[in-house]
Amino acid sequence: MPSRLRWPVAGPGLDGRARLAYGADYNPEQWPRQTWRDDVQLMVQAGVNIVNLGIFSWAQVRPSESEWCFDWLDEVMDLLHAGGIAVDLGTGTSSPPSWLTAKYPAILPITELGVTVSPGGRQHWRPNSPVFREHALDHVRALANRYGKHPALAMWHVSNELGCHNVHDYSNDAALAFRLWLTDRYGSIAALNSSWGTAFWSQHYSAWEQILPPRAAAAPRNPTQQLDFLRFSSDSLKAYFRAEAEILRAATPDVPVTTNFMVMGNTKYMDYADWAADVDIVSNDHYVLAARPDGFGELCFSANLVRGIAGGDPWFLMEHSTSAVNWQPVNVPKAPGQLRRDSIAHVAHGSDAVSYFQWRQSVAGAEKFHSAMLPHAGTDSAVWRDVCQLGATLRRMTEVAGTRCEPAQIAVLFDWQSWWASELESRPSALLHYRELALEWYTALCHLGFAVDVQPADADFATYRMVIAPALYIVGDQLRTRLESYVADGGHLVATFYSGIVDDADHVHVGGFPGALRDLLGVRVEELAPLLEGQQVRLDDGSSASVWAESVTVARSGVTALLRYADGVAAGAAAATRRDVDGGSAAYVGAKLDPPGLLALCDQLTGLAGLHPEQDRATARVVTRRIRSGPDGRYIFLINQVAEPQTVATEPGVELISGDDVTGSVTLGAYGVAVIRAARHPGKP
Ligand code: GLA
Repeated sequence: MPSRLRWPVAGPGLDGRARLAYGADYNPEQWPRQTWRDDVQLMVQAGVNIVNLGIFSWAQVRPSESEWCFDWLDEVMDLLHAGGIAVDLGTGTSSPPSWLTAKYPAILPITELGVTVSPGGRQHWRPNSPVFREHALDHVRALANRYGKHPALAMWHVSNELGCHNVHDYSNDAALAFRLWLTDRYGSIAALNSSWGTAFWSQHYSAWEQILPPRAAAAPRNPTQQLDFLRFSSDSLKAYFRAEAEILRAATPDVPVTTNFMVMGNTKYMDYADWAADVDIVSNDHYVLAARPDGFGELCFSANLVRGIAGGDPWFLMEHSTSAVNWQPVNVPKAPGQLRRDSIAHVAHGSDAVSYFQWRQSVAGAEKFHSAMLPHAGTDSAVWRDVCQLGATLRRMTEVAGTRCEPAQIAVLFDWQSWWASELESRPSALLHYRELALEWYTALCHLGFAVDVQPADADFATYRMVIAPALYIVGDQLRTRLESYVADGGHLVATFYSGIVDDADHVHVGGFPGALRDLLGVRVEELAPLLEGQQVRLDDGSSASVWAESVTVARSGVTALLRYADGVAAGAAAATRRDVDGGSAAYVGAKLDPPGLLALCDQLTGLAGLHPEQDRATARVVTRRIRSGPDGRYIFLINQVAEPQTVATEPGVELISGDDVTGSVTLGAYGVAVIRAARHPGKP
């Protein structure tokens, strides 16, 4: 694999100079030819400099097995190039054409209940179908040959949101590939039996052929089998990505290859921390869930995690929406100002691109009510005016491109495999939601005024002053050792309930909880203690816990109780503890605290660790502050999360969007944004 290429690399107007990319998915095949020229003109007017083209064009490029139809795509590529717009060219393999599925129905996925997924939607293909792969890769080769040298080509876009609809396939193709994957992982059937704990319920295997994907069964399925199937499924799509990427890289070694990840609230099953090294630039799709009161906080958490998996490099926001989407129960349009707020929040967290789904709002198909840059209402619309204004804003912010977010003092660890395994069908509580718990900790610390990073568990967290491990369920030997060294070297670790419970095979670490982290944290819990829905326990600081309330016993010297239960079966027992370790510390939180309780505990823990927030606490709840910097500048992003105007203190400098000088403070209007080039830059005299 080549070392990671940096955006921008090629394409008209993107001649190696850093700039913020601005654009959208462009689906010209949905429109008559005469619209294309208007599109390009309007793109130029809006400040668009890149589009993601051909994402779903397989059937238009190859309408039947014997027919290739490149003319229209040639024309669109040329038109875009003439307009100075670069192309992130989709390989188009996400949605197989009807001729292919009619001729080879065996590429259609099978659900866990044995139901065949029909064509009629999209992504109806088995990740391990050799027939699908052969045809899809032929298609990729043809595109690479045709457009590899086209001057508009700036980036390749493999498939689309791999695994969005088809990540778990239970077909016979999947069964065969799963067995190969398991052979590779375990080497022998005996090792597999041991890892899967098949002595339980007579599940012993005597030959590889007996092993199946975890299809619907009479009783809860083997958890290690399920976890391995989830790992295998993520790996299968990564392997598929690699197969397309290999062809593209061979044809055009200088053009970066990406695929759009889905680091967002409702997408769980691709381990992107594990995928990230395979793409030349990490790109992500994110949609705010309108029904969430903390939707914007979730956006920041996701964007932050994308930056984490990108290793701090600038990344590419491939899709988000200008306004409403079409797939939530109620699809609420964005309020005035939210379009800009949401887009720039991604840039504040390290994106060098603002790209939407999609350019022109469809009039037919399942997404006709999904917003776009150019809405049904046309150019006489607030959305269009906001889109043009944002294009101009991004141009004024060009110098931010290529800079990196300044690392925070605190990192929240995020681990896809702990997420999967902690929410399998056999677990102590269905009320524990891994991602939500991580978000709660992130939010509490942000509300105190700390900049917080979200990092995959395998990232190097040694440089952070404090590391939070919410429900880090799987802790194998390596991770345990890394966490121990972190604390021994002066780091402040905070782990919550349901951490350190199992090893990589999902086998319990015996002797008391939190298992692998028991010694490090200096506590012992005899029984996991989830609470019933609606049940609450009071704590001695007046806050309360729900979902989880363990009775924590101090098990070594130097450990003090920070919180105790005031009622319930564990009344008087410790709920949170902290162990002092030569400059560092290891804290354990055995209960899921309500927001005031969590805020108070974070305040106490950061205070004890000697950390000082970067931001004034009075505004931290409503104003997001992140800093990006590079050799030539240090940029303070201030984003008003709410409709009420806010005045915030800031370092002096120049506000890039207005061009105004800023001295001690800045006032942000409804959902307002300021990007200040700080007058002082540590790297400069
Ligand atoms: C995803 C897909 C797009 C579109 C949007 C709608 O992100 O990649 O093709 O369906 O969702 O929100």
